Amino acid sequence: MKSLSRSLEISPMRTADIGDVLRVEALCFSTTWPRNAFHNEITDNKLAHYFVGRCEDDIIAYGGLWVILEDAHITTVAVTPSYQGQGYGERMLIHLLDEAIERGASWITLEVRESNITAQKLYKKYGFSVVNTRRGYYSDNDENALVMWAGNLKGTVYRNRLATLKEGLR
Ligand SMILES: CC(C)(COP(=O)(O)OP(=O)(O)OC[C@H]1O[C@@H](n2cnc3c(N)ncnc32)[C@H](O)[C@@H]1OP(=O)(O)O)[C@@H](O)C(=O)NCCC(=O)NCCS
Repeated sequence: MKSLSRSLEISPMRTADIGDVLRVEALCFSTTWPRNAFHNEITDNKLAHYFVGRCEDDIIAYGGLWVILEDAHITTVAVTPSYQGQGYGERMLIHLLDEAIERGASWITLEVRESNITAQKLYKKYGFSVVNTRRGYYSDNDENALVMWAGNLKGTVYRNRLATLKEGLR
């Protein structure tokens, strides 16, 4: 069981948070979203739901998803490097899964770089499996994307799995 020194306060992302989110983004990704991508997502996209995670008032994590009827799509999740490996990414992923379920999704998908073993391990822990490869999906280095899906989110098997994992983090 992981012991967290500090808790993660998760709340909806606001436009005022974008500067801090961009700082985390720059530390986490080789290609980054521009400010207006986050801005449009949280102000214009009715299907999008974005969150920030604060540790002692500092934004150290964020994540987002779209929910389109029964399907959800995780668009991004990140934890600032100095806070990685302490359960915060897992907490953000759980929040996204709970949000997807609450909004009626049964299935959830995401893309992940083939080389990103850390993220793949996290997603597999939460029931995602690779169903497809998108060749050359990432334009910066032509890397393949693995397409992962999890579900049935509303089924007893998945709900029990999620409950057990949440208990393990407590
Ligand atoms: C991927 C990421 C969000 C994980 O967040 P984190 O806070 O570091 O991860 P956690 O401490 O919550 O660990 C959760 C699980 O992730 C996996 N994991 C975490 N660190 C790992 C490591 N160094 N090696 C392998 N697996 C690892 C494990 O499955 C772990 O569960 P376990 O402790 O039971 O083994 C974070 O590393 C990150 O922001 N990376 C850069 C951005 C990124 O790649 N985002 C995903 C894009 S698809």
